[in-house]
Amino acid sequence: MENTTGIDTIVHYGWLSDEQRWDANRYDWPWLGELGDVDKNIILLLDCLSDGEFSGQASITQFYNLIFKLRENGFDKDLLSDWGEVLAYANIITYEEFRHGVSLGKIFNYVKTGKDDFISNLSIRTYSEKYIWCFEDRQYWSLYSYALAHLFAEIVNTELYKDVRSVISHPKLKSVVSNIMRDEARHIKAWKDIIKNIINADERHKQFFLESISEGLVYHNAMVHETFFEGQNKMLPLFLSGEDGKASAIERICKSKYNVLNELFGENNIYSIDDIKKFHSDFLIKSYGKKRAVYSKEVSNKINFIG
Ligand SMILES: [Fe+2]
Ligand SMILES: [Fe+2]
Repeated sequence: MENTTGIDTIVHYGWLSDEQRWDANRYDWPWLGELGDVDKNIILLLDCLSDGEFSGQASITQFYNLIFKLRENGFDKDLLSDWGEVLAYANIITYEEFRHGVSLGKIFNYVKTGKDDFISNLSIRTYSEKYIWCFEDRQYWSLYSYALAHLFAEIVNTELYKDVRSVISHPKLKSVVSNIMRDEARHIKAWKDIIKNIINADERHKQFFLESISEGLVYHNAMVHETFFEGQNKMLPLFLSGEDGKASAIERICKSKYNVLNELFGENNIYSIDDIKKFHSDFLIKSYGKKRAVYSKEVSNKINFIG
């Protein structure tokens, strides 16, 4: 969007969200009983993904936390006010991610247990512990790298759902996954526009973003929840397969991240596609087979991998 006030960006993504809102039919999905074995086996790989979707709640809580801390520490108030756009967008995106969590959680629970009791069994205390306060252990980001992580993670989400959709047979399940994928693709555009607006609001922002790129590029915002790395390890085969000579998800992700970097930073982007691939493979090697990733001041990248 050109010549934006920031508010009109939020209004734009607000009405897009209204217009493109898919009907969840009150989550009344009798077709769950019709899923075949291939679909069920794919769903069984995705339990951590519903945790990831629900952790959209923690993401936004952590945004507030980062902004409050900067404000308390005397960070420039005008610069912080430019971040109001993110907090305004939080009102739109949090509910969309919540719907993804409810959808995937319900489907996984049914496939795993044969029971349709996911929502009635999820207490608010469990929800808060798992999907809000989880961020306290995982404060790997600065405000700037965190926003970049949200943008680049939506690229990963979109490509992942694209691959999941392509191997699913049941039309109703395919349509839920397609709807989630389209939401994620819209989120990429929204984060990109919002970050562009912040950069355009004051040139000091650009420098802060540039200093945060390497963390923002590879740290997925869903790393904020407990089962992220368990899920990454489980879903890795989906990312690495490039069937029929097509590019694998990881290749598409790196290319798309590279294009976005150029769009945001132009000649100030110092990273090539190969650099991005290397960041990813180094990170995958470091996190492969690990279960927990706790914030630590002692290590250089602030992540202590355990397990
Ligand atoms: Fe999502
Ligand atoms: Fe998203």
